[in-house]
Amino acid sequence: MKVMKRLASMGLTLTVALSLAACSSTPQQSAPAQGQPTTDTSNTEPASQPAEKVKIVYARGKDSTDSTKRLVEAFQNAHPNIEVEIREMPADTGQSHDQYVTMFSAQSSEIDVFDLDVIWPAEFAQAGYLLPLDRLIEQDGIDTGKYIKGAMDAGNFGGQQWTMPKFIDAGLLFYRKDLVQEPPKTWDELIAQAKATKGQGGTKFGYLMQAKQYEGLVCNFVEFIASYGGKILDEQGNVAINNPATIKGLQKMIEVVQSDFVPSNITTFMETESHTAFLEGQSAFIRNWPYQFALAQDQAQSKIVDKVAIAPLPAGDAGSAAALGGWMGGINKFSKHPKEAWEFLKFMTGAEGQKISAVHGGLAPTLLPVYEDADVQKASPLFANKDFVDGVSAAVSRPTTPIYPKISEVIQIEVSKALAGQQSAEQAVQNMETKMNELMKK
Ligand code: GLC
Repeated sequence: MKVMKRLASMGLTLTVALSLAACSSTPQQSAPAQGQPTTDTSNTEPASQPAEKVKIVYARGKDSTDSTKRLVEAFQNAHPNIEVEIREMPADTGQSHDQYVTMFSAQSSEIDVFDLDVIWPAEFAQAGYLLPLDRLIEQDGIDTGKYIKGAMDAGNFGGQQWTMPKFIDAGLLFYRKDLVQEPPKTWDELIAQAKATKGQGGTKFGYLMQAKQYEGLVCNFVEFIASYGGKILDEQGNVAINNPATIKGLQKMIEVVQSDFVPSNITTFMETESHTAFLEGQSAFIRNWPYQFALAQDQAQSKIVDKVAIAPLPAGDAGSAAALGGWMGGINKFSKHPKEAWEFLKFMTGAEGQKISAVHGGLAPTLLPVYEDADVQKASPLFANKDFVDGVSAAVSRPTTPIYPKISEVIQIEVSKALAGQQSAEQAVQNMETKMNELMKK
């Protein structure tokens, strides 16, 4: 990649090393593992007969934009024999996860294609919920090298490719250009500016984030602790959470959450609540994912069109850190229409699909050539800035393990208690260490 070394010019100097790359391998065109179905879809339609219209169901979380609708329309126009029904899943990734697990563990075929959070593939692949994609990728000559490596690798488990990357997320600071001259570089500067801007220009708050007890809390936590040099696991996968840097990061998070410049009910805020308040013009700052920019520019729902700029999240002692997020597409192993499901997945994660998601949904492409597209570059300052790709590639991943949901639950519970003032940061970190070590032993 040419996109090098200009991080500092945008300030996207995400100093915490990416552990994502360490936990994966290059996609391989290997034979299906024992016990896994083959991806031979040649028996679905005899080529000589006119294909009948097939309906597939595509499930994804709540979309606050019209990009999914547009994506499906474009696909159906190109594939008149395939109808795609959109099934909307909860906005809370953890709730979606649990619903999928219930469905797939009962071998349900009601969904054909679905979006997976970057934290799920290891678990879903191991549980046997996904159709392996290697042969399909090879058969259609998809060049996986054109995708952001970390995003492609995140769907590679046990030497097989289980998902195709759809978009990549990294935590960012969005701020009101009309209220803020120079974005804060450190958490302490953010705290000072959030206090100072609260009440200005019709705002009610200074800062918005996601502090509800759910997965988004883990992302915010990871950013605070990593910016002080803390981590959850070390490179060997051992629990490394109990250290002074993590404690310091959590203390800063507690300071922000307990301040009077965030909404008093911030511990009920997920992405939707925080972005809605920001779009209403209620805060000078928000921590959110790249999609925030497209929403801010949407006349139909935003009071802050053309007033928003983007910066890296504030730094702690160890620099600025963004949590790595993002979503990929996979095929339900029990789908009755794997061939059509693959056609849709290929379209959605290919150039045309990713362009629609970027332009209309503000979602950051994982397919590198899409960043060269003029319409995509116009859609968000992030996409026109080559440093952004390097920035997200340096973002901090959450642990990649099939037991991730359990690890996440521990973090959610202990951090929530600390934010509510029910225990100190030291106690929270000690409890997380003990509980995670127990989980690791099992
Ligand atoms: C975004 C991220 C995802 C993360 C979630 C938390 O959707 O892409 O990885 O788990 O937010 O709310």
